[in-house]
Amino acid sequence: MLDPTFPIESVRSSYPALADGFAYLDGAAGTQTPRPVIDAVSAAYRAGIGNVGGAFPASDRSGAIVAACRAAVADLVGGHPDGVVLGPNMTTLTYRLARAIAGPGDEVVLSRLDHDANVRPWTQTGATVRWAEVDPVTGELPVEQYADLIGERTRLVAVTAASNILGTRPDVAAIAELAHRAGALMYVDGVHATPHGPVDMRALGADFYATSAYKWSGPHIGAVVADPALLETLRPDKLASSPDTVPERFETGTAAFADLAGVTAAVDHLAAMVPGTGTRRERLLASMSAAEEHELALFAVLIEGLETMPHVTVYGKPARRTATAYFNVAGHTPRQVAEHLAGLGVNVWNGHNYAWELTGALGIRDSGGAVRAGLVHYNDRSDVDRLLDGVARLG
Ligand SMILES: Cc1ncc(COP(=O)(O)O)c(C=O)c1O
Repeated sequence: MLDPTFPIESVRSSYPALADGFAYLDGAAGTQTPRPVIDAVSAAYRAGIGNVGGAFPASDRSGAIVAACRAAVADLVGGHPDGVVLGPNMTTLTYRLARAIAGPGDEVVLSRLDHDANVRPWTQTGATVRWAEVDPVTGELPVEQYADLIGERTRLVAVTAASNILGTRPDVAAIAELAHRAGALMYVDGVHATPHGPVDMRALGADFYATSAYKWSGPHIGAVVADPALLETLRPDKLASSPDTVPERFETGTAAFADLAGVTAAVDHLAAMVPGTGTRRERLLASMSAAEEHELALFAVLIEGLETMPHVTVYGKPARRTATAYFNVAGHTPRQVAEHLAGLGVNVWNGHNYAWELTGALGIRDSGGAVRAGLVHYNDRSDVDRLLDGVARLG
């Protein structure tokens, strides 16, 4: 049953790009941008912005933009504004944090479910790596294996809150419990998970929670959220002249101030998708729950449609997942399928999608990976029908 309470038409009408007639099923690679975000970015430039710390109003405006952005991201993930580290994207921030957290002599536990951005920054610290494996048939990341992988030398466990290709939502809280019992830190990649439902980083047991605004209707900005007291204990490489306060200590160079104004507008947009009252955090939880219900109801149609086509192979069948499908079509490369669908006005992604270890474990990395079609809050039934019709034509 589709969720009739989700106001899909009003949500869609906020996104000017959707008027081009394409079915945007490529949200996992980056969402479209609603009008309030576009307006907030241009309003920041129109009003005049200066670098932070100056003695004039335009500089104060930038300071206010940064503070508002930290508060908004904290509301979105259930963190503390003073623990919100902002940067260009999750990959850059994770490299930065990894160098400050781990090194030779440490052990880190990584998973083959993860996007490479939560893998390579840790392997390249020189720490000893222990691997959590994925069941290649179900796409699940079994929790039990972590009891053997985590030990007294474990400095950190890095795991995703959702796979960017299979949609698998592993039991992060259970993994965190094992990590914390051993005194290890938990670095959770929330880049794919954040747009698909309510987030509570504390309930997940995340010491660090990484997210990227361009996956949830915002500009190309990344954030890592942590307890400010934990950030105080870390010493990243930094300029002698830049602030040593937290979270600024982790931020290099001059921020993209106008884009940060767009991030705040994106959080406000997500909070307002369904009518509600209460704090922004409360409205976000309600709105993102409604969006998740909407996505999963549509996804049931999408995945059943794909699974019943004899010429289609769908990868993974995880019990808890985001609305993300990864599949191949017999007789066609993933690129050919994506080009065929593009010709029908349907945008999907093809390739390994940087899920390097996972596509290796699935045995499809060297053959071009597969096709990814994902739903976000602004997708509707016609998007799903057009995808299924387009794939059916290849049978
Ligand atoms: C699950 C996941 N983690 C990390 C990343 C990297 O994020 P960014 O592009 O912000 O570096 C992505 C990007 O696609 C992703 O899907």
